Amino acid sequence: MTYEAAADIGIGSKTSIAKSAVLERSAVIDLEAVRHNVRQFVAIASPASVMAVVKADAYGHGVVQVARAALDAGAAWLGVAHISEALALRAAGIEAPLLAWLHTRESNFQAAVAAGIDVGISGWELDAVVAAAREQERPARVHLKVDTGLGRNGCTIADWDQLVGQAMEYQDEGLLRVVGIFSHLAVADEPHRPETDQQLAVFREALAIAEDAGVDTEVRHIANTPAALSRPDSHFDLIRVGLGIYGLSPFEGVTSAELGLHAAMTVRTILSNCKKVPEGQGVSYGLKYHTSQESTLGLVPLGYADGVPRVATGGPVRVNGVTYPVVGQIAMDQMVIDLGPLTPEETAGLKGSEAVMFGDGADGGPTADDWAATAGTINYEIVTRISPRVPRSYINEAPAVNEAAAKPEVHQGTRAASESATL
Ligand SMILES: Cc1ncc(COP(=O)(O)O)c(C=O)c1O
Repeated sequence: MTYEAAADIGIGSKTSIAKSAVLERSAVIDLEAVRHNVRQFVAIASPASVMAVVKADAYGHGVVQVARAALDAGAAWLGVAHISEALALRAAGIEAPLLAWLHTRESNFQAAVAAGIDVGISGWELDAVVAAAREQERPARVHLKVDTGLGRNGCTIADWDQLVGQAMEYQDEGLLRVVGIFSHLAVADEPHRPETDQQLAVFREALAIAEDAGVDTEVRHIANTPAALSRPDSHFDLIRVGLGIYGLSPFEGVTSAELGLHAAMTVRTILSNCKKVPEGQGVSYGLKYHTSQESTLGLVPLGYADGVPRVATGGPVRVNGVTYPVVGQIAMDQMVIDLGPLTPEETAGLKGSEAVMFGDGADGGPTADDWAATAGTINYEIVTRISPRVPRSYINEAPAVNEAAAKPEVHQGTRAASESATL
């Protein structure tokens, strides 16, 4: 049952349930951080435009709130994987150009055409989208996708002229408009690797083939966050930025701050319990950790049901300005930190203290990067997996009055910083 559902069936008032849930545990999203990051990318991309990639509930940050903030800050496009995600944005009244690129035979192309949602086409989707356009008596807006080397979606370069030719026939019949041509990069987060050059070369070849066939697109796009930051030659007309608008760094060994970005999500809670234990106390399932001295254990009410990776024992939690590692097995609802030997007064003082799993790291506190390193994964996964059980709350929802005029601090050292860190 969701908190909203609890309120609907009369368990307490909706407002008080929502408020106490947020106080107990929340992912706090700073929408000014999102706007700041988008402004950075708008400046980096200019004269190209920015597509804010808001799939997967905006990487866990909340799709409608992030989409609005990104558009306020100058993003011209929104991008999602699934048509259902795009329809949710339209249902929220968002009318910006919107691309959905991952489909199955069950995807609702009719609804996409009806809602003016642009559809990514790798091949087989073309006929299905055209059928929807006929049904809706409205031309579909499509972006043809070429696989330049990632080996996932997209048309191979061998079949590309056939796809382009077929799309142009449909365009001539008034059934669709080829709005864009796009591709996706495989290793842009490792700027020293040669494959990005190879992918860009194949992309240029695909664009030339399309141009020869008479395609006149509005937007050619291939850059994701790391390419936007490290490869100006990949910007074309539009950059598709996900991770960067959430303020996270795509480069190993390079922090958000070094890229001039602000991490937007803070996951925090309050300690459920704090208790003194003797030396040798076993902790959590499997008793894989024992205190090495008389100590105080803090109980953090976040677990794998909340999206904390179960493998991330040792992950950092900040309490009262001190960072402690998680000890013992992470459970479904909770994890434990060893606060060390404390006086009874200190233990009492910690009860009910705020515990931060990760945030922007500005105060030296833990970051999504720290949890990613502990869990052996990437920061993308850490923020995206924070589950719906953790209520999202938003700060800085409205742009400040003079914010629209705010100048982005374009980060001149971006390319050098990313390259030196990864070379
Ligand atoms: C097709 C496509 N474009 C752009 C992005 C955004 O990538 P990033 O988050 O690295 O900016 C993604 C995300 O995976 C994607 O699938």
